[in-house]
Amino acid sequence: MKLFVDTARLADIEDALKRGFVRGVTTNPSLFAKEPKGNFNEHIGKIVELIKQYQPDAHLSVEVFSKDPQEILRQAETFQETFKHPQLSIKVPIGWDELEVIRKLSRKGFSVNCTCNMSVSQALMAAAAGASFVSLFWGRISDGGTKKNFAQQKNELIKKGAMKEEDFDPAYVVPAVRSLLDSSYPDTQIIVGSIRNGTDVIAAGLAGAHIVTVPPKFFPDMILHFKTDEVVGQFLKDFENWLK
Ligand code: E4P
Repeated sequence: MKLFVDTARLADIEDALKRGFVRGVTTNPSLFAKEPKGNFNEHIGKIVELIKQYQPDAHLSVEVFSKDPQEILRQAETFQETFKHPQLSIKVPIGWDELEVIRKLSRKGFSVNCTCNMSVSQALMAAAAGASFVSLFWGRISDGGTKKNFAQQKNELIKKGAMKEEDFDPAYVVPAVRSLLDSSYPDTQIIVGSIRNGTDVIAAGLAGAHIVTVPPKFFPDMILHFKTDEVVGQFLKDFENWLK
C-alpha cells in the first residue's frame, strides 16, 4: 500500500515529498479552488518541480475541469504536452459518456485516473474501459448511506435493485472492487480518497486499496503517539544521566 498526498497546496506537498513517505500527489478542482487565485498551468508546473526535486518518479494526478467529452480530450492532450511528467495521470470523473473518453485516452497511451467512483460497478466499468487507476471516495460513499439528504435517492436505488445497503459501506465496496480487479483487470490500481480521519487511511489500506491519498492535515495524527513521546524522553533522560 502506498500513500499519496491529497492537496494542491505547494507547502504541504513539499513537506510530504521531502520526508519520502509519499509516492504521489492527487489534486482536484476543489482543492485548487482552496489556493490563492493564480495561473493553473504555473501551479501544476510548480508541483512538477517539487516532484523532480524530491521524488522524481512520484505520481501526479491532474483532474480535467469539464464534462464535455471533446473538451476532456483536449484538456488531457494539453496537460500531457504542458506538464511533461512521465508519471502524470489524467483524472477523469466516472460517467456514461466519460467511459468512451477513458477508452480513447488509454488507447492513445494516456494514464487515466478515473475518479469520483462511489460504487463497485462504476469502478469495474472504468477499469474495463482502460483506466490505470480507479479512485474510490471512502468518505462520500459512506455519506451516501448515512446523510439524510441522500435517503430518498439511496432508497430508490435499493428499491429498484441497482444497489444494496452494503454498497454504501466503503469497507464493503473497496474489497469488492479489489477482488474483481485482481481477477479481471490486474493492471488497474485502486486509489482511495475522500479520507475523513487518520483511521480511514489504514482501514482503506486493509480493505485492499493499492494507494490511499491523504489530506496533509491527517499526517500529524498518523505520526504522533503519546507513548512514543514518553519513551523517547525517557531514553534521552536516562542516557543523559549516565553520561554525567
Ligand atoms: C482524490 O483525489 C479526491 O479528489 C479527494 O480525495 C476527494 O476528497 P473529498 O471527498 O473530501 O472532496
